[in-house]
This record gives sequence, structure tokens and C-alpha cells, in this order.
Amino acid sequence: MLQRVNCVLLRTSARTVTATSSIRILTGITTSGSPHLGNYVGAIRPAIAASHVPGVESFYFLADYHALVKVQEPARVQRSTLEIAAAWLACGLDPETVWFYRQSDIPEIPELTWLLTCIAGKGLLNRAHAYKAAVDRNRGEGQDDDAGINAGLFMYPVLMAADILLFNANRVPVGRDQVQHIEMARDFAQRFNHLYGNPAGREYFVLPEAVIDEHVATLPGLDGRKMSKSYDNTIPLFAPRGELKKQIQSIVTDSRLLGEPKDTDGSALFEIYQAFASADETADMRAAFADGIGWGDAKQRLFERIDTEVSPLREQYELLIAHPQRIEEQLRDGARRLRERHAIPRLRALREAVGLRDLSKAPLHARMDGVSGAVTLRSTASVTTLATFKQYRETDGRFYFKLVDGDRILLQSVGFDSPKEAGSHVAKLKRGAFDAGDGMVSVGSGVALDEITAVLAAIAAENEAK
Ligand code: TRP
Repeated sequence: MLQRVNCVLLRTSARTVTATSSIRILTGITTSGSPHLGNYVGAIRPAIAASHVPGVESFYFLADYHALVKVQEPARVQRSTLEIAAAWLACGLDPETVWFYRQSDIPEIPELTWLLTCIAGKGLLNRAHAYKAAVDRNRGEGQDDDAGINAGLFMYPVLMAADILLFNANRVPVGRDQVQHIEMARDFAQRFNHLYGNPAGREYFVLPEAVIDEHVATLPGLDGRKMSKSYDNTIPLFAPRGELKKQIQSIVTDSRLLGEPKDTDGSALFEIYQAFASADETADMRAAFADGIGWGDAKQRLFERIDTEVSPLREQYELLIAHPQRIEEQLRDGARRLRERHAIPRLRALREAVGLRDLSKAPLHARMDGVSGAVTLRSTASVTTLATFKQYRETDGRFYFKLVDGDRILLQSVGFDSPKEAGSHVAKLKRGAFDAGDGMVSVGSGVALDEITAVLAAIAAENEAK
């Protein structure tokens, strides 16, 4: 079953992937509850399938800062974080091939949140659905507009934008209720690019796109409404078998008796079955409905179908939950590597962009002159002292180089078979022969092509003078 879903997703995603070499997909999961079947069908299963598509760099994280907006019970936040991490791992997420981390392990996220806060329009935040709904409730009850509303709820979209923009994610798979948040992230990104972007070079932020996968089912809950913890109608993903069975028996049906034909339209039971079954199995169930299957039997079939898919995952889950220290280590390791590779260099560039700078250095990057609007690029003279090539070997046995400016990565090479090959590319670049499209190097995030050209020209000039 898992296989079938994988294939569908592989086809849709692979098509888009071939166009560009690597796209970044990012998903956050708020750690405020226990994983349920709706999360599994709507988020976990499709996301893990998508993570197997080649050419995609996937980011999955536990949004525990977001959880604090709603949950102020520490033990619940901790428990939920553990359960959700274990669930994703048990369902096949591989931290070796995707970035898997906990939001609160990346201090660059709240740091970027502040930078974005200072450019976010307050009026835009006033219109966020979740905040507005809370205000409307207060008004309905004759209360002060903001009674009982914490500023976290108000700032929620900015924190979410930081999650996405820090890693320049191209796509963010979300439910419809989150689309507005992605639009806001785009708005903040555009404002930032406009304010601080180098007009001649690359922009700081990629504009993310919301992806709503039409193939992915929204699962109904026990009462037929969308399965959601806010409706208290969820079926836990990893309940013991006995409990799963009991829960399934409590799905609401109509009162038709055995032998009476039953409607598949609007039947929560049928919809849940369909989300787990193959096309053939679904057709069989449809026929059984028409033939008047009893609700008891239908529920038994549903239970067995779900349990077949879930029980091997449940075994893994129980194993993981029994060793929380392993999960803790995995998360910390993911965050450490991700910070080194992306978050730290990225924040350094963004701090530069807004003017949080080393006072002893000449202005770096393009700078808008407040009075005349003229653009001043940094002089090549200041460049030569900073940027250097570093060659090294990775644990994969291949040879790499990067062009670094202090701790900022300006260029990162692909892996070469021999140090000689890596060296000859470095030599080429040192002669000023730089082709951003040759597939040998990628430009560091937030780095303007202009800057690289200027750095390489300065290095070439310096070598010539020697
Ligand atoms: N707000 C999202 C939700 O409730 C969770 C989330 C937090 C998220 N940060 C994100 C989702 C970044 C995608 C990208 O579902």
C-alpha cells in the first residue's frame, strides 16, 4: 500500500524535479498533540514518499516554538515532540538523506524572526486568519478585542516565515489553512529583498510556494468532520491494536441495517478505507456497500486494512519510544550539521545585509545610499584580504573545495574523484574563469554573483601582481 502511494507521488514530483537540479521542500510539524491517522495520511506518508524523490533536498522539523503558542504545559510539549519525532522515524524518514531537526535547536530561526518582524507589516498580521478568528470570538462575546490573546499567536506567521526563508525553501506542502501563511512569507521575503537586495545580483530570499497535493486525502474523523485534534475526533496512529479496533467501531454511520444498500458518498468509514486501500480493494468495498454489508463487518474490514499497514510501523515506533536518548541524539546531530551547513552562514549574510556588521570592516555588499539612492559596491581591495579557497576531503572519499569569506561560503564545489581534478578547477577559478552554470560549483545562499565575480577578479589580480 505504501508502495502504491509512493509511485503516485514519485510521478507528480519527479516531473517538476527534472527541470531544476535541486529543489528544497520544507515541512514543519507543530508539536502540540499525538500523531493520528489524519496526520499519517495527510502529511507523514506523502512527505516521506516525496523525500525519496531524487534531486530534492528535504527539510522536516518539529515546530516546538510554534507549539508554545497554544500549549503551556511543559510535559505535553516534551511528550508530543518525542511522539511526533518517533512517528516520523518509524514511518521511514531517514535522517541520513533528509534534514530532520527540532526548531528550538536552531537559534538562527528566532534570530531571523526578529529581522523579519522589523519589516513585516503589522496590518498584514492583523489579517491573519487564526488571529482574526480569535479577535472575532472575543467580539462575539463582548470582550476586549485582544482579551486572552498572546503575542505569539499574532507573530506566528513571522516565525513560520523564518522557518521557511532561513533555508530558502522552494516548496512548502501544507493544508489549505496554512496557505495564507506562505503568502505572508512571500510578502516578507519580497519586502526584505526590496529593502536589502543587491539590485545587480542575487536576492536574499527565494519566494516559497505553497503546495497542496490534490491526491492527498483529508481524512474524516470519528464524527465525519475533518480529523483534527481541535474537534476531538481523532484516531491515534499508534494506539495498541485493541484500542484501534475500539476507536474504529465508534466511527459514526447511518442507521441502515444489514442487507440495505449503503451510500459511499459522505461515509466517513468509506473515505477512511479508501485512504488506505488499493484501487481494487476500494472497488470491492464499494460493491459491498451496494450489496448491503453490515456496519459491523465494514468496520472489521476497515480495522484489518489499517492494521496491516500500521502494525509494522507500530513495532518500530514502540522500539523508538523506548529509547528517547537515541531520538534526542539524532535531532541534535541533525541541527548541528544543518546549522553548520546552512543556518549559520546564512544568518551571517543576513546580519550583514541589514547592517549588523563588524565595525572595523569596510561596508560589505551592495549598500543603498539613503540620500541619493545610489548603489555602492564594496571595493575589490577589501575583498582580497578575506576570501580564500579551501580544499578538503569528505567522509564520502571525494575531494571538494569551497571559496570562503571568513565563515561565509561563497562557492561550494561538487565532489571530485581526485585532488588533482579539484585543484584544476580551483586554478581555473583563480584565473577568473567563472561559470555559474557549469554544474561544478553552487553559489552560497544569500551570496550575490556580483560578489563572487569581484572576489575572483581580485584574486586573479593579486596573483598576477605576485
Ligand atoms: N503552522 C504549521 C501547521 O500548523 C506548522 C509549521 C510551522 C510549518 N512552521 C512551518 C509548516 C513551516 C510549514 C513550514 O501546520
